[in-house]
Amino acid sequence: MFEKIAVIGAGTMGHGIAEIVALKGYSVFMCDVSEEILQEAIKKIEWSLRKMMEKGKLRHDDLASTLNRIKTTTNLAEAAKDSELIIEAVPENLELKKEIFSKLDKMAYAEAILGTNTSSLPISEIASVTSRPDKVIGIHFFNPPVFMPLVEIVCGDKTSSQTVDHVLSFVKTLEKQAIVCRKDVPGFVVNRILEALIQEAAWMVHRGEASILEVDSAVKYRAKLPMGLFELSDYVGIDVLYSAGKAIQDRDKGVIVSPLFEEYYKNGWYGKKSGKGFYTYTGDLWEKPKIPPELADNVKLEEIFAPAVNAAAWLLRNKVVEKEELDKAVMLGLNFPEGILRMADKWGIDVIVQVLRLKQSKYGEYYRPDLLLEEMVANNRLGIKTRGGFYEYA
Ligand code: CAA
Repeated sequence: MFEKIAVIGAGTMGHGIAEIVALKGYSVFMCDVSEEILQEAIKKIEWSLRKMMEKGKLRHDDLASTLNRIKTTTNLAEAAKDSELIIEAVPENLELKKEIFSKLDKMAYAEAILGTNTSSLPISEIASVTSRPDKVIGIHFFNPPVFMPLVEIVCGDKTSSQTVDHVLSFVKTLEKQAIVCRKDVPGFVVNRILEALIQEAAWMVHRGEASILEVDSAVKYRAKLPMGLFELSDYVGIDVLYSAGKAIQDRDKGVIVSPLFEEYYKNGWYGKKSGKGFYTYTGDLWEKPKIPPELADNVKLEEIFAPAVNAAAWLLRNKVVEKEELDKAVMLGLNFPEGILRMADKWGIDVIVQVLRLKQSKYGEYYRPDLLLEEMVANNRLGIKTRGGFYEYA
């Protein structure tokens, strides 16, 4: 198993990954382009560890030893040279990632595994600039890495089963759970579903079918997701979700980014980090927007979720992931109270298909129901009401 790990990029995800890895006992080299960024990252890690200590989840000694295990550097070669596993978490720019992987390939041990935390860029293309595509793999954490229980492991075309096994064992030592995305599809599993969901919410607001508060109230209080979709977008970063959505759209039109996201992105309204997103923030990092519960019945959940169910069906039909793993992915990667396939079985597959057909007739082919859903309706597998949908019901 690995002893030394490097994390390249000390932004929102990079510092969180370095934190969880150090918390679980590994020595970590965190690398970024400037001392200021690295010091800021260390401050955030310290804040997070102190919070855990205040809540009795961490002993004082462990706080000190965790911090001691994190070294920082602005020198990529220094971070790479002794590391057995390198996790890259730089901004979502394919050319930048390729440049870094090409350098890492020359700087790291021949046996070292090169992981990327990309949320939607092609692993195979990143791997193609290295001499070890079998040892390049997606290791996708969720925000905030220290709390979210899932790591999505993504195979490129040439990733070896040995690399997958090593990384799965590593994830276990972090006390996290993993799902394996078997094909390098745009958005992988979680972001393909999340983007379809969030962009649909944004399209509905753009078209005047619902307000931001109505969507968030329905999602939070009726679907019982931990955050409203606009609240989550502000939390993760509208810039991050915009770029991930665009990357999926450019590769296979698995989602169409809404004009609302385009507008917020272009104006620099990125969410919490910029003080303004779909909500406004006064500075407290953990400030929560006020979402009135009484608006929860104003919009139908099926309207918001149908494209995400369609994306889930696409993933199943294309054998990217098994159905149990897909549900586990949204429950552990996004803290959904239940799997999206279970939700669809409750709403009725016929209802989802009807919603999609109506949207297709009004707004175009993106909404065409997936063949798998059409087949399910044709075979009367409508969900709980027919005792069989994605799952069987007694
Ligand atoms: N470390 C330590 N403490 C932290 C922290 C951190 N990194 N971040 C927040 N906290 C603290 C807060 O300061 C707050 O402390 P106080 O109680 O002292 O105020 C506390 O934790 C928050 O407690 P809450 O009870 O409010 O937290 P919660 O029960 O609402 O859970 C959450 C927070 C886990 C983030 C939950 O809201 C959630 O699951 N949201 C959805 C998150 C999600 O979907 N993430 C994935 C996004 S997609 C992604 O990341 C992939 C991608 O590629 C885009």
